[in-house]
Amino acid sequence: MILNHDVVIVGAGAAGLYAAYWASTSADVAVVSKLFPTRSHTGAAQGGIGAALGNEEEDHPLWHWYDTVKGGDYLGDQDAQRILTFDAPQTIYELERMGVPFSRTKEGKIAQRPFGGHTRNFGERPVRRACYAAARTGHAILHTLYEQCVARNVNFYSEFQVLDVLLTEDKKKVLGVIAYDLLSGETYTIHAKVVVFATGGAGRNYAITSNCQANTGDALGICLRAGLPLEDLEFVQFHPTGLAGLGILVTEGARGEGGYLTNSNGERFMERYAPTVKDLAPRDLVSQCMYKEVLEGRGIQKTGRICAEDWVLLHLEHIPKAELIKKLEEIVDFATTYLGIKPWEAPIPVMPTAHYYMGGIPTDNDGRVRRSHADGDVVEGLYAAGECACVSVHGANRLGTNSLLDLVVFGRRVGLHVAKNVDGVALGKLPGKADARVAAQIERLKASKGTEKHGELRRELSEVMMTHVAVIRTQEGMEQARAKVLELRQRYQQVAIDDKGAVFNTDLIEAIECGFLIDYSLAIVEGALARVESRGAHERQKAGADGKLVKLARDDENWLKHTFATLRADGSVQLDYRRPYLCQEHPEDGWEPEVLEKMKPKERKY
Ligand code: FUM
Repeated sequence: MILNHDVVIVGAGAAGLYAAYWASTSADVAVVSKLFPTRSHTGAAQGGIGAALGNEEEDHPLWHWYDTVKGGDYLGDQDAQRILTFDAPQTIYELERMGVPFSRTKEGKIAQRPFGGHTRNFGERPVRRACYAAARTGHAILHTLYEQCVARNVNFYSEFQVLDVLLTEDKKKVLGVIAYDLLSGETYTIHAKVVVFATGGAGRNYAITSNCQANTGDALGICLRAGLPLEDLEFVQFHPTGLAGLGILVTEGARGEGGYLTNSNGERFMERYAPTVKDLAPRDLVSQCMYKEVLEGRGIQKTGRICAEDWVLLHLEHIPKAELIKKLEEIVDFATTYLGIKPWEAPIPVMPTAHYYMGGIPTDNDGRVRRSHADGDVVEGLYAAGECACVSVHGANRLGTNSLLDLVVFGRRVGLHVAKNVDGVALGKLPGKADARVAAQIERLKASKGTEKHGELRRELSEVMMTHVAVIRTQEGMEQARAKVLELRQRYQQVAIDDKGAVFNTDLIEAIECGFLIDYSLAIVEGALARVESRGAHERQKAGADGKLVKLARDDENWLKHTFATLRADGSVQLDYRRPYLCQEHPEDGWEPEVLEKMKPKERKY
């Protein structure tokens, strides 16, 4: 069956909905989502969205830009980071006017709280920059944007899962997508001038993650298989405070409201590692310090082992119960429900949880997907926005609150770009049997007599990624991970499913998702193995002369570059590289002299 729309947006989180909102001002827009839109994972974003509004104390977008550049360990594209931070205030006010119910100051302005790595005056001390709606900021934004899209008559295809993208043979132009209707089991070809990928996060390839079941990186797998590159995929963020053993997120807003971490000696260990900002250091640093404390025997259980076996403590007991409930109700709820802990009485056991991909589908600053690492080489009509995209504004480590901000700033920007240009894009010609690849895949899985189960393959994948490709990485560990991922890819050919039916066949869909998880995990491992340095979330260790593991230093001379991973026809991963946009290297763009000096790559200290 063939459906026709000018624009098809894949994913109904904040990025997809904001793109739909603006694109629909001049085009017929369809949003296709594997979930009902308001169940998208944007709804799980808790603590806040960054913008230098200066509502609680003096702030400036320039300081936000500086913090983002530094927080990303200088790998981000500084022109894109400037757009993110300077467009933030107007985007927040647009959301406010749409009806997002932000928490308020006494004067009725949008309330703001401190968050990790956000500082006043170029690192002087933490600043209150995160705009929030209690600890349900993403939920508030998601519902508002959905209502706005409904009001604009955007077409929604809910519980339709996109399984393939259609490109011309030279990959220079997009033609549409292939979607699978979960309810009926029918496959649809959606023919369009413009396709926007906004499928969100991909953290389900890690055993401990804050990501929901749906975050299986489908667009990453689809693009890899279509011969398009993925950028900087080795940079996977671990949020410091997941509930120990479970990974459920405890917002950084908890530390923004005065919470702090201790080890088994009762020591506030972050004071040692980041004397100025302490528990409000950026996430890469806090997660690495928590691992170090546990590995050196100062975890609460003193096992010296990571994952579910040891942890540190997050203290909120000094904050009055009424205030905790008012500002962090969700956290109170999670701690009580899942661990039986009342946070006003006892500390919460926490450890880092796989949270966010800094990398993704590479785009230019308007969200147009890059066909290769060469500048200006984009796929006509194909866009990406939000977590599945890499603009790149987060570099090697994202600051808390900059994710929601990325979704809305670049989702909006894509929508505006599409609205302005869609009339000039010609509708490409569909190939005969456009859905042949997907149909063959479904047929093969239903007919398979193999002995492998996708659930078991996922379990083994997520465990090896958690053990060897998480916060601390070594060559030996990652080589084991690579061997395992390759083994799983082989075994995947033997996956069989039990449900052969058409209606809500989640067995089939989970089997297909498992293939995507394996493919992009290989790109992560290869990119991480090749990168012989530590940068941001990628902490690379090597045995020193005494056999003890030591952290490798950042190596700007050799590694200040973006990774572009492409799947070759034989299934191996090709790595190419591109230098980030550093404003110091582009004086022709007229950057102010004081800015050039501030944004220069240097050692990060907090
Ligand atoms: O801690 C949090 O509330 C998460 C925010 C983020 O990932 O930006």
